[in-house]
Amino acid sequence: MSSIANGSLLTSRQRYGAVTQLFHWLTVLLVATAYILSPGGSEARVYAAAADGARQLHETVGMVLLALVLLRIVWRLFEPTPDAAPMAVWMKLAAKAAHWALYALLLAIPATAIAGAWLEAHPLSLLGIGDMAPMLVENHALGANVADIHTILGNAIIWLAGVHAAAALFHHYVVRDNTLRSMLPDWLARRANSEPYGERPAAC
Ligand code: HEM
Ligand code: HEM
Repeated sequence: MSSIANGSLLTSRQRYGAVTQLFHWLTVLLVATAYILSPGGSEARVYAAAADGARQLHETVGMVLLALVLLRIVWRLFEPTPDAAPMAVWMKLAAKAAHWALYALLLAIPATAIAGAWLEAHPLSLLGIGDMAPMLVENHALGANVADIHTILGNAIIWLAGVHAAAALFHHYVVRDNTLRSMLPDWLARRANSEPYGERPAAC
């Protein structure tokens, strides 16, 4: 119970701080929004005047996400992570690998989007800010390949985040440790803690 006492802005040895939690859950929201708004189809269709609004919204959400991830990484450099709940070494390594891969995807997805668009000689269009003209020399074939990689990585992060979320739920409902609660806001962690943990039904 002491592990979820007094929600704090900063990460402790038991729990992620409120700032990191805010970064985490805003990231989840923005990744999901960018994915739902992702423009599909041929290049001609993606950049058709009729699709402008939807594509620009996707690009804007993606760039807000990139800014958030960069801030998150700077914040992460100055803050320790909570102690991991006791678990098998392979599980700890798998969780670490998944976190690194998620960070790598969060950087590679916007990088491939920007490079792909610019190599294809399209500006980036950010709502409320305007166009950012290409800063790379046009190479259309390469740009199309890089845009394809963006699509693959955009799908990959959804799969990996799904496995990562399933692992968090497994810890909560099956292993019954503090992993998920450590990333939940104080009020929610308290509610989750009121469940009858540790009291499994007696074997028949
Ligand atoms: C985590 C953030 C993002 C996710 C999950 C994501 C996901 C995707 C996916 C899945 C597609 C392909 C849709 C389809 O073909 O069905 C796509 C296309 C696209 N995305 Fe993103 N995206 C993200 C961030 C960005 C950013 C930051 C930008 C630009 C600044 C961007 C620009 C584009 C463009 C221009 C396309 C069309 C590519 C083409 O086929 O030419 N995306 N995105
Ligand atoms: C797009 C979706 C997601 C992304 C990109 C993401 C990313 C991350 C990253 C990078 C970390 C490591 C934080 C650090 O130590 O620096 C993390 C931790 C965590 N995430 Fe997510 N996450 C996503 C969705 C979710 C969901 C849906 C859940 C819950 C169901 C969740 C639960 C957790 C928990 C409990 C931790 C702490 C794990 C630990 O300390 O071992 N995440 N997440």
